[in-house]
Amino acid sequence: MSISKKLFGKMPCGKEVYCWTITNGNMSADIIDYGATLRSLIVPDKNGNPTDVVLGYDTVEEYINNDGYIGATVGRFANRICKGKFTLNGKEYTLATNDGPNHLHGGNIGYDKMVWDIKDEDGELACYLTSPDGDEGYPGTLEMKVTYALKDGGLSIHYEAASDKDTIFNPTNHAYFNLDGEGKINEQYLKINADYFTPNDADCLPTGELKAVEGTSMDFKDFHTIAERADMDEYVKPYGGYDVNFVLNVKSPACEVYSDKNGIVMQVETTEPGVQLYTGNGTSDRLGKNGAQYGWRSAFCLETQHYPDCINHPEWPSCILKAGIKFDSTTVYKFKTK
Ligand code: BGC
Repeated sequence: MSISKKLFGKMPCGKEVYCWTITNGNMSADIIDYGATLRSLIVPDKNGNPTDVVLGYDTVEEYINNDGYIGATVGRFANRICKGKFTLNGKEYTLATNDGPNHLHGGNIGYDKMVWDIKDEDGELACYLTSPDGDEGYPGTLEMKVTYALKDGGLSIHYEAASDKDTIFNPTNHAYFNLDGEGKINEQYLKINADYFTPNDADCLPTGELKAVEGTSMDFKDFHTIAERADMDEYVKPYGGYDVNFVLNVKSPACEVYSDKNGIVMQVETTEPGVQLYTGNGTSDRLGKNGAQYGWRSAFCLETQHYPDCINHPEWPSCILKAGIKFDSTTVYKFKTK
């Protein structure tokens, strides 16, 4: 594994942003300091052709000006928190609301919009961030580290953190995958090892129900193309496609996706209890890397995480991070061909 870095651009304040490239055999990944963002992930297809399977941009300005959290590390809490409110140790906290009345992906200036401190640590890319006490309303100073590595045939993303006060924490990576490297993801095949999902209300917040996937558009226990049932029922229609959390039974692999066109297979392994499938329903037309055209259904996200709004559903796996306790979570996106 080798790591190199190049100046990528500058923040409006003049701070330099670097693009780091990790290479291992025929795989490589670019990560930028802004948002500790995964900018490219190049894997071979069945004929050995290098294929970039994630969306990204060529400039810092495009990352700053475009919405959608493309490739970013998301925190302190990925996904939504109802009205930005929660109670911890008897105290009510109010977070920034940036998605109608609700809190989404860490608030107005989440971790995706911060410039991280990145280092090469023994061939792995260690990304550090300090999130101060009160950041977007969250209690406790949180020290966070995300380590990207290319190993075991995939991209491993290892999250570690600790806070000086009890807080809540639920990081994810918001990579937008397209195994073809271009075009639409409609015909790519997806399998998710989940018997249940958490249906949404009109604001895309979980209603609290754990619903069996059988007979719904959410049944990915066997392979289905992404588009096949993306307009089938009330769980997808109002959202323009999939934007929902699955309750994982098996985490290794939790999900599997393949393209019939180029034979690329991606398997997602995670220590997290859930995964949000998002099919880029809100992605407006825009230009991406090397002049690529992105828009609706250009990509899918498989955001491994705790369930949305879980702090307000105490019966679900907990996102509470106690003071001084180390948070540790890993997701690996593995690749092969068929
Ligand atoms: C959310 C979507 C949101 C998207 C882009 C996803 O993780 O579930 O509702 O629109 O991120 O911001």
